[in-house]
Amino acid sequence: MLSDKDRIFTNIYGLHDTSVKGAQSRGDWDGTAKIIAKGRDWIIDEVKSSGLRGRGGAGFSTGMKWSFMPKESDGRPHYLVVNADEGEPGTCKDREILRAEPHKLVEGALIASFAIGAKACYVYVRGEFHREAEALQRAIDEAYDAGLIGKNACKSGWDFDMYVHLGAGAYICGEESALIESLEGKKGQPRLKPPFPANCGLYGCPTTVNNVESIAVVPEILRRGGAWFAGLGREKNTGTKLFCISGHVNNPCTVEEEMGIPLKTLLEKHCGGVRGGWDNLLAVIPGGSSVPVLTKEICDTVLMDFDSLREVRSGLGTAAVMVMDKSTDIVRAISRLSAFYKHESCGQCTPCREGTGWMARMMARMAEGNASIEEIDLLEEVTRQVEGHTICALGDAAAWPIQGLIRHFRPEIEKKIVASQVKKTGQAA
Ligand SMILES: Cc1cc2nc3c(=O)[nH]c(=O)nc-3n(C[C@H](O)[C@H](O)[C@H](O)COP(=O)(O)O)c2cc1C
Ligand code: SF4
Repeated sequence: MLSDKDRIFTNIYGLHDTSVKGAQSRGDWDGTAKIIAKGRDWIIDEVKSSGLRGRGGAGFSTGMKWSFMPKESDGRPHYLVVNADEGEPGTCKDREILRAEPHKLVEGALIASFAIGAKACYVYVRGEFHREAEALQRAIDEAYDAGLIGKNACKSGWDFDMYVHLGAGAYICGEESALIESLEGKKGQPRLKPPFPANCGLYGCPTTVNNVESIAVVPEILRRGGAWFAGLGREKNTGTKLFCISGHVNNPCTVEEEMGIPLKTLLEKHCGGVRGGWDNLLAVIPGGSSVPVLTKEICDTVLMDFDSLREVRSGLGTAAVMVMDKSTDIVRAISRLSAFYKHESCGQCTPCREGTGWMARMMARMAEGNASIEEIDLLEEVTRQVEGHTICALGDAAAWPIQGLIRHFRPEIEKKIVASQVKKTGQAA
């Protein structure tokens, strides 16, 4: 469990002064120029050795991603793009950073931009996050006024500008290539990779896209050293993490904890436990709506990190933990997610456009028991046809919750089908 001395986000609930003065009193903007003076290679190596993995869902090494950017400019500018779209259902951590700890993001963006050779950073903020965008803009204005960014940022010799861009509320614009298209003023649709953004991103220039949390933790990692961050959590699953816990717990919250904390401890220590007690737990979606659901038996012992959750065929995703107690109609719950993915599919590729509609209609029938037992296998087969056959990961995201449901809760689906048949005909088929 995380001790207070290792906490990065010391004002995540906004209880203290969020202005530049308040942020500086908590250690932000301390020695930024000295960090920059150590050079690009040192920064990238330190972030690599910290073991930091992207907090936007995929968990790719942040230091490694930065190292893919060209070392020398070929005349094209480099860009940092911060992904503040936060569209994954259940996820509510980046908004807390924007509201209460925006200076961590601004300072992190300066350092990351320097490390990848970028003089400009665009923050793409979810359309609904008006107040959050205002809070971030306030912090950016303060940083300009204090000489922390702009020309010769922090007297480091590096010029750096930062811009806020509000999206229009489409989930798909959180996918990095769609986000770049949208930022350019086009329709936000993903595009095939390669080329990857490091070679051809925003305006056709080398670009790194990182999640808000990934960037906001960087200054503290560099101040304390990569080894400090790497010493928290487990090997390959290091550091601290913001977990957002919602659903049937007594006290839903967003909290910073050590990576690899047991799920049960997370819920009992910070959320007042499951409503009605641990034995009243039915299931947990551990990483946002895109990852497969877990049964109580798995939740009894599972650790909250990338590799532990992968071992139980789910994922850490955005660390948005959705808790469902025994009052939940789990088939209906997953059916609601299927409706979401159908709505959010950009329609560009056939397996996703047709598949998400097909799966959503099928799930809506399953939720009513208005299906046959054989159709469960057919539904599973369709999820396999969608998974891995699309341009972006939205197709997988739509398939996985259904696969998890069938894997762990097939009897619940069957019970509904049998009950519905009995109601219609007076006897089970
Ligand atoms: C459909 C879809 C939606 C996504 N939404 C977000 C999002 O809201 N925020 C985010 O940071 N990453 C999102 N991602 C992941 C991004 O594509 C990208 O991997 C991430 O921003 C990289 O940052 P990181 O390496 O710091 O994690 C999404 C991916 C997909 C496929
Ligand atoms: S997988 Fe879906 S959301 Fe992604 S590009 Fe294809 S149609 Fe669009």
